[in-house]
Amino acid sequence: MTTESHPGLRERAAASLTAARARTAALTDAVTDADLTAQHSPLMSPLVWDLAHIGNQEELWLLRRVAGRESMRPDIDPLYDAFEHPRAERPKLPLLGPEEARRYAAEVRGRVFDLLEETPLEGSALLDDGFAFGMIAQHEQQHDETMLITHQLRRGAPVLTAPEPDAPYDPPGAAEVLIPAGPFTMGTSTEPWSLDNERPAHRRDTEAFWMDTLPVTNAAYRAFMADGGYHEPRWWAPAGWDQIRRHSIEAPLFWHREGGEWLRRRFGVTEPVPDEEPVLHVSWYEADAYARWAGRRLPTETEWEKAARFDPATGRSARYPWGDADPTPAHANLGQRHLRPSRAGSYPAGASPLGVRQLIGDVWEWTASDFLPYPGFRAFPYREYSEVFFGPEHKVLRGGSFAVDPVACRGTFRNWDLPVRRQIFSGFRTARDL
Ligand code: AVJ
Ligand code: FE
Repeated sequence: MTTESHPGLRERAAASLTAARARTAALTDAVTDADLTAQHSPLMSPLVWDLAHIGNQEELWLLRRVAGRESMRPDIDPLYDAFEHPRAERPKLPLLGPEEARRYAAEVRGRVFDLLEETPLEGSALLDDGFAFGMIAQHEQQHDETMLITHQLRRGAPVLTAPEPDAPYDPPGAAEVLIPAGPFTMGTSTEPWSLDNERPAHRRDTEAFWMDTLPVTNAAYRAFMADGGYHEPRWWAPAGWDQIRRHSIEAPLFWHREGGEWLRRRFGVTEPVPDEEPVLHVSWYEADAYARWAGRRLPTETEWEKAARFDPATGRSARYPWGDADPTPAHANLGQRHLRPSRAGSYPAGASPLGVRQLIGDVWEWTASDFLPYPGFRAFPYREYSEVFFGPEHKVLRGGSFAVDPVACRGTFRNWDLPVRRQIFSGFRTARDL
């Protein structure tokens, strides 16, 4: 054994990998082999593709790049390269079957645990602080969220269960919070498992602005719908108006009206849309239109991060709204502990120093911003993680959803997607100038 630069790092890496695999197993063992190989939506891969891709990326980064080994299965490597085959085409590929995929991923994992015991966690950018192991645990958890989206799109009887949210509930008095003008630190240069697009830390300035204390709820969103929001072009960005007209969109994805009532389908269960829950499964265009209707706007990514991390008492940016401590169940709805967001007004212990609530967990929050590199960005360890997605076609989402594991969630974490996407666990909050 080598000496540890950080005590417990090896255990943390092992525990993060093990937790990710337990979730992967739960998501893939819940359905039949036919369901694993079927394509439930052209937007998604068959679950069996995600499963083997998880193993293949782990083999690539830990066994080949870190340990310098040869490919275990050169024949299958191209099948699991996300850039070689778009999702819609993956069901037609000669993919590993469910049993083969499980065996392959388990074989890789066994070798990775051997490697983790013997390799020093320092001496190269991939090994320092166990970064490559942390990156791979995050990668698996990100695909677990993707697989949960596939579960949500899948038709048929429910197969997943989880307890209902039981979070502390204490709605705030004020609907919005004043975020003062001035500089703060955005991004990070010190968070050991932060990904390339979160780096480096740099100073940014904002004007003073008002930020919603809570995410926009279903009740508030229904007021927009009831006011004819989906039929009033002035609220919509032209491309958003075009999308909702072409696809006859009149409500968030998975909603339908029965009698006078709005119902939604959630992991195979049909239920009334709950008033107090943050709205879920809306596109950037829907979020943007709602904000305009409300006389407000989406916060920029910079504003979101300042509201989430800036502590006016110290002038510092913390790792999370509540401080530097890792999330606990009292702070936020993360990790697929529940199969839904918690009511808006939950988790008072998760408030930011300025009093903004539920920034982490529950629903991903669309921001006004395009996905762009920070000043001084360097692609690491591969251009295809972030760099090839930079540009005006992708919008940034922040904060993570109920489906995001804590290992892949921080105040600095950046997600992105196309502004038309609604199958993701996306909601939003609004802001306004003074
Ligand atoms: C960061 C969620 C947009 O799922 O496309 C997974 C994460 N990157 N495998 C995605 C990712 C490579 C990525 N997102
Ligand atoms: Fe991937």
